[in-house]
Amino acid sequence: MLTAEQNERLTRVGPGTPMGELMRRYWHPIAASVELDADNPTKEVRLLGEDLVLYRDGSGTVGLIEPSCAHRKANLSYGIPEENGIRCAYHGWVFNEQGQCVDQPSEPEGSKFKEKVRIKAYQAQELGGVVFAYMGPAPAPLLPRVDVLVWPGVRRTQSIMLPCNWLQCHENSLDPLHFQWLHRYWGGWVMNKQKPQEERDAWNARIGARGADHRKIGFEITDYGVIKRRLVGDETEQDDHWRMGHPILFPNILHITSNLQYRVPVDDTHTLHFVVDLRQPEAGQEIPDVVTHERVPAFNDDGTIKSDWVLGQDQAAWIMQGPVTDRTTERLGVSDVGIIMFRRMLEEQMRVVADGGDPMNVVRNPDENEILVYPVEHFEYPGYEGSRRGPFKDVVVRNDIEAELSGEGASRPEWDGIQIDDPSKVGRGRLVGDVL
Ligand code: FES
Ligand SMILES: [Fe+2]
Repeated sequence: MLTAEQNERLTRVGPGTPMGELMRRYWHPIAASVELDADNPTKEVRLLGEDLVLYRDGSGTVGLIEPSCAHRKANLSYGIPEENGIRCAYHGWVFNEQGQCVDQPSEPEGSKFKEKVRIKAYQAQELGGVVFAYMGPAPAPLLPRVDVLVWPGVRRTQSIMLPCNWLQCHENSLDPLHFQWLHRYWGGWVMNKQKPQEERDAWNARIGARGADHRKIGFEITDYGVIKRRLVGDETEQDDHWRMGHPILFPNILHITSNLQYRVPVDDTHTLHFVVDLRQPEAGQEIPDVVTHERVPAFNDDGTIKSDWVLGQDQAAWIMQGPVTDRTTERLGVSDVGIIMFRRMLEEQMRVVADGGDPMNVVRNPDENEILVYPVEHFEYPGYEGSRRGPFKDVVVRNDIEAELSGEGASRPEWDGIQIDDPSKVGRGRLVGDVL
């Protein structure tokens, strides 16, 4: 349970708010590269409470600027892409990706007026078929080259706009137990009502194993986030749900099986769920040049939330919790240790930013950023055929917090002593650079 003030600190993301300032230290996906083409060179976007215009100019450069033209405020999303920027529809002024006005066609010849005219602009970069934005102070950190964005394979992207705050979306990733109930039990009930027998059987077989009764959950804090583990059904600590687990990359990314799931704070009550998926090609399949994109609706035509696939059920749960879930009246149990831990990490990192520091998982070393590879259960590591654990076959489980969900209950002996900047946590379980 939180106070109303604590809940606001964790959920408000606009300019000047503690969480907004923390989030502005990271790169966030705002569009797929294929969403900006010759037919649709501009896109209105909203990120961290600010309305912006994303565009691709005639030379292929991507810019992210404030919507209003500096002249007489026409919306630049109606502009024309030119070689060096976007030309306003109203009187033809051109702005480049730095927000600098570079052309005022109706001002007198030789006028230097344009040099004094600038609009707000943020950095945008593309990687893996995704456009990322950075809205924080200079110098910008490096755009993290996470394995799913960099490794060769068949990549596709999806985006889903959700009418709820980012934190309830992401707290789901610190809550392993929900798989047993939301996906296996409720999901099975939903599928039973909606699907023919063979689809139900396939669902139950697939979801039943991963969503078997949870006996223990564990969390390891690393310098890039948290590794989450679960011991389910009759699995042992040698099985991958426990041995490997999967990481939650600070502050808002889940890395699971074949994909990355970014919970991008659009504003206090909206989240862009941006998913990047990487599969290894089937035998004989060519790797396509283009990374595809699909905008997926969260709702059915009748207004109910789509819930007939795993991600849809997650999204249904987040939307069900309301626009900003009321944490002043929640009641957390033993199974919520990961959520409590993660809120503490957020609070700690907001304080780091307030004190002028770089928060955790900000990447600034180019040598480290060639490729960032993480331990993820059931991930298809290219080049490691025959080993499901890829380069992490010798990974050592070192949880900082565990909770027994049967038998003796919670076990958290080191709870209050955990420090994220503890040198023993640096780089734990992550490989950087050339790993193949
Ligand atoms: S309003 Fe944009 S050029 Fe006049
Ligand atoms: Fe889930």
